[in-house]
Amino acid sequence: VRARPPNVIDLLGGYAATNLIREMLARRVVDSLHEWRTVAEISRLHRIDHDGALVLLNFLYCCSDFLQRRGERFRLAPRYSEHHAWRGVFEKFTGAYGQMIAKPLSAHRSGADAGIDRSALARAYSWDSESPVVIKTIEDLRPDGVLDIGCGRATLLAEICARIPAEGWGIDPSGAMCRAARGSVASAGLQSRIVIRRGSALTINQVLSLQERRRISLIYAGSLMNEFARSDATLVALLDRLSRWFPGCWLIVVDYLGALTGRRKRAGNYTYLNDIVQVLSGQGVPPASHEKWSSIYRAAGAQLSDIIEGRTLDLRWFVHVVRLRGYRHSAKLRSTSTGK
Ligand SMILES: C[S@@+](CC[C@H](N)C(=O)[O-])C[C@H]1O[C@@H](n2cnc3c(N)ncnc32)[C@H](O)[C@@H]1O
Repeated sequence: VRARPPNVIDLLGGYAATNLIREMLARRVVDSLHEWRTVAEISRLHRIDHDGALVLLNFLYCCSDFLQRRGERFRLAPRYSEHHAWRGVFEKFTGAYGQMIAKPLSAHRSGADAGIDRSALARAYSWDSESPVVIKTIEDLRPDGVLDIGCGRATLLAEICARIPAEGWGIDPSGAMCRAARGSVASAGLQSRIVIRRGSALTINQVLSLQERRRISLIYAGSLMNEFARSDATLVALLDRLSRWFPGCWLIVVDYLGALTGRRKRAGNYTYLNDIVQVLSGQGVPPASHEKWSSIYRAAGAQLSDIIEGRTLDLRWFVHVVRLRGYRHSAKLRSTSTGK
């Protein structure tokens, strides 16, 4: 039986709770609530009026699963104190895309990518951990050179290069992400093998020399393709360029199946939230099925050779192992069988 959809009062409650949690994060009240705290303690530690604090904490306790209450004391529910990925999700939707979500119709009209707070996005990704499935998929292909396009904080690249003796290149147009990426590379002690450059997927030929491109046997695009999901033609054009610059290379695409454009049966709020920020930021909702993705690869002469699907809440994310069009001259790449 389908749960009753939230009504307008539920939505207003969620809106107020979201703003409250956001301020509690910014003022570190959330950190204090990792252990049981009386209202008096919270009030004193964070200089909040006692009676107001009581009502606000009670409000969160009553309208969400965020807090637990025992008599006069409150604490964060274990699912929020023991796991941290929710903080990244929260930062993404209230920080990085917060302005757009606050003004959805105007943001949509301008298709304003400029409205993304890139520093908040970099912070949001700091709560992410790399998926073992993705790491294993790349490791199994044993690449000599890995290019991570839209590398973000480059944690995946650092992890791969720490495991196998590959060279790495990370490219990202965001200054905030490049700074964070160089930090990850330095703390892994991999500066001699990984290079981070500021640039776009569309102009890689200006960022990497021909000699460097020839040393790359595998490209990783983690949550990058969805930045080009405005139309099938945009995705095909990107794949086409990649094939020209890196003929015959492996391309590992990690992305998600969109829901709100098609007739796919109901997904869930996490997928819907991702879909709406995709649209508000002018990126477009990614294709809703593997078949559709496969037809896009084919249109660029590339071939989808393996699919691995995972789930985060209701979000269907995937790893696609794709072979780019063309013949790779370097014989050094030792491929493994990936047929399904
Ligand atoms: C959602 S983040 C994913 C970061 C990282 N790949 C990961 O999986 O954690 C998308 C990244 O793509 C970058 N990006 C956006 N447009 C791009 C473009 N045209 N070329 C390359 N990277 C781009 C963003 O700056 C951002 O770091």
